[in-house]
Amino acid sequence: MIDYSEKIPNNVNLADDRRLQRALESWQPKYIDWWKSMGPVMFQDSDIYLRTAVDIDAEGWADYSYVKMPEYRWGIFLSRAEKDRKIGFGEFKGQDVWQQVPGEYRNALRRLIVVQGDTEPASVEQQRHLCMTAPSLYDMRNLFQVNVEEGRHLWAMVYLLDAYFGRDGRDEADAMLERHSGDPDSPRILGAFNEETPDWLSFFMFTYFTDRDGKYQLGSLRESAFDPLSRTCDFMLKEEAHHMFVGASGVGRVVQRAVELMKEYDTDDIAAHGGVSLETLQKYINFHYSVTLDLFGAEESSNGADYYAAGLKGRFDEASYDDDHRLVGATAQLPAVAGDVITTVEVPALRAVNYDVRVAYTGDAQKGLNRWNRILRDSGVDFEFTLPHEGFNRRVGVFSEVNVSPTGEVLTEAEWTARRRDYLPTEADRAHVKSLMQPVHEKGRIAGWIAPPNAGIHGHDFEYEYVRI
Ligand SMILES: [Fe+2]
Ligand SMILES: [Fe+2]
Repeated sequence: MIDYSEKIPNNVNLADDRRLQRALESWQPKYIDWWKSMGPVMFQDSDIYLRTAVDIDAEGWADYSYVKMPEYRWGIFLSRAEKDRKIGFGEFKGQDVWQQVPGEYRNALRRLIVVQGDTEPASVEQQRHLCMTAPSLYDMRNLFQVNVEEGRHLWAMVYLLDAYFGRDGRDEADAMLERHSGDPDSPRILGAFNEETPDWLSFFMFTYFTDRDGKYQLGSLRESAFDPLSRTCDFMLKEEAHHMFVGASGVGRVVQRAVELMKEYDTDDIAAHGGVSLETLQKYINFHYSVTLDLFGAEESSNGADYYAAGLKGRFDEASYDDDHRLVGATAQLPAVAGDVITTVEVPALRAVNYDVRVAYTGDAQKGLNRWNRILRDSGVDFEFTLPHEGFNRRVGVFSEVNVSPTGEVLTEAEWTARRRDYLPTEADRAHVKSLMQPVHEKGRIAGWIAPPNAGIHGHDFEYEYVRI
């Protein structure tokens, strides 16, 4: 199904479309330049044990082999077309999906694709220094796997821009390589993608919480009436699952190690013994969860309503909602703030679509905490990780004007200032985590702040030489 004889591996018959092929082949060297200058700062010449997509179907879709990252076969892979697919929501519900972009939705669709596409290389840029402090070769390999696949996700969006948006699509594709995370003159589009990922604990939290936002955004776009976008996002979701696994298992291994150190030294204060305390982990959870909620946008959104009504972007797993999937005339309850009281307000359901997707995200995000809490319970540790209140530490939406504690009380400015250090990582917490980031690059060894994984990659054990330095 995937043609690997071409310069750009693909399953979209690129060879039959000279115009598109030329556009993508002229973008390819710019992409490689970007990868070399903005991708991982080291190990670009090392052989890494990476998976590459070779098929689009569920079984055996990926191949595992040693690859030097700049030689990775980035390509264009769309999930199989669903026969006679119909639009699943909005005012055109029940009609045939679109194979071309309708003129009236051209700008909106291009914007959705550009915003999604921009996050993919942004995360590679944010994570580019982490390889220097990897706790093991296994972890380093997982980082690079995530990075090359985020690069491929950029390819996925650039394909759509080049194939369906002509001249402005090509300009947008170039701009994807010209904006850079944290660049004061030309930053990435979304705020959260302009912060460096400073350490491996942040990386695991990012892949757990923020890649999961990616899952919900892609899942909402998979519902799109624009069929090529839907099929592209469907295949991206397949790759995305591993990124969230890296986060969930990574945090779990830090929790595991914390528990071991607590037992060994008979204290909760394990910082002096080279661990990350449960309290600090909770603060990292508070931080990453709250900044990720901002990525869903304001609770009440007219853009969200317009995208939904037009069939451009649905809700994650649209079919699972027990309503008419048009939402015209329906109402929904959204959180609101009145003085220092958190209350609710009734709005047209169409304007609450962002919030619906966010609520589903929260339910999904809780599952990892349940797993981490099981590690604590199984070890007899009396502590429970919790997700903070939806209003905690928000910069976007109704809660951005107030300070809310993790348990949901509205705080005065003075209370917030006094308690902030109990809620969010302090300079000292971050400095401690940073001090633990000593690289371990020998086969089969691991840093002291994290437990080894239960299993390795693709049937290999932890001791496998995942990176040949
Ligand atoms: Fe991605
Ligand atoms: Fe991802």
